[in-house]
Amino acid sequence: MSESNRLRIAIQKSGRLSEESMKLLRSCGVKFNINEQRLIAHSDNLPIDLLRVRDDDIPGLVMDSVVDLGIIGENVLEEEQIERERLDKPSRCIKLRGLDFGTCRLSLAVPNEFSYENAQSLEGLRIATSYPNLLRRYMKKKGITYTDCMLKGSVEVAPRAGLADGICDLVSTGATLEANGLYETEVIYRSSACIIQSTQTQTPEKQALIDKILSRINGVVRAKE
Ligand code: PRP
Ligand code: ZN
Ligand code: MG
Repeated sequence: MSESNRLRIAIQKSGRLSEESMKLLRSCGVKFNINEQRLIAHSDNLPIDLLRVRDDDIPGLVMDSVVDLGIIGENVLEEEQIERERLDKPSRCIKLRGLDFGTCRLSLAVPNEFSYENAQSLEGLRIATSYPNLLRRYMKKKGITYTDCMLKGSVEVAPRAGLADGICDLVSTGATLEANGLYETEVIYRSSACIIQSTQTQTPEKQALIDKILSRINGVVRAKE
């Protein structure tokens, strides 16, 4: 891969963080146009390239210094950090600051007909999730044994499909749970978006650009408070 002297920023291609991530960068004076077919968008006024990828891939891209910055949910970041710890792989990234969007919670939920008392009600059951590490950490703390069913998407249909007894998934408005006959029983992690940087930043020019963007972000967030 050729070394680029342009700053690379990874953002979610499509999902809850996409619009706000682009809005934030634009309000910091980064001009760019998105071509839906393209993975990369070049800024017209600054030496910045935007990489539009799946949110789950962003922490790894930053930690492996494929990109310099990433805008991501804290839940996805933490999930990847625990995974790397487990694999003895370094997590080379720092959180620059929290952002004021992408607020959600990672929760346990069960079918409406399930009589749930407390987390112990899940003892020995199967739980579908895209966040096996955050779920494991929580269940370990509670001393509950369970089986997991790893699903990258459509977690909410798992109980109805007979794949699991309950789920552990992100909840924002609660509409997805309701539409699937599930109810939330425990919040295991609260999250919002954040901006992260690879600890292997490269040139002083890139670092200066990161500092400039960060100070603009601070200004934008402060102005909204
Ligand atoms: C989460 C979660 C649900 C939805 C819940 O998906 O997996 O599908 O949001 O939101 P609601 O409570 O407002 O209905 P996310 O947006 O993270 O997309 P992804 O799973 O494709 O990454
Ligand atoms: Zn995702
Ligand atoms: Mg989803």
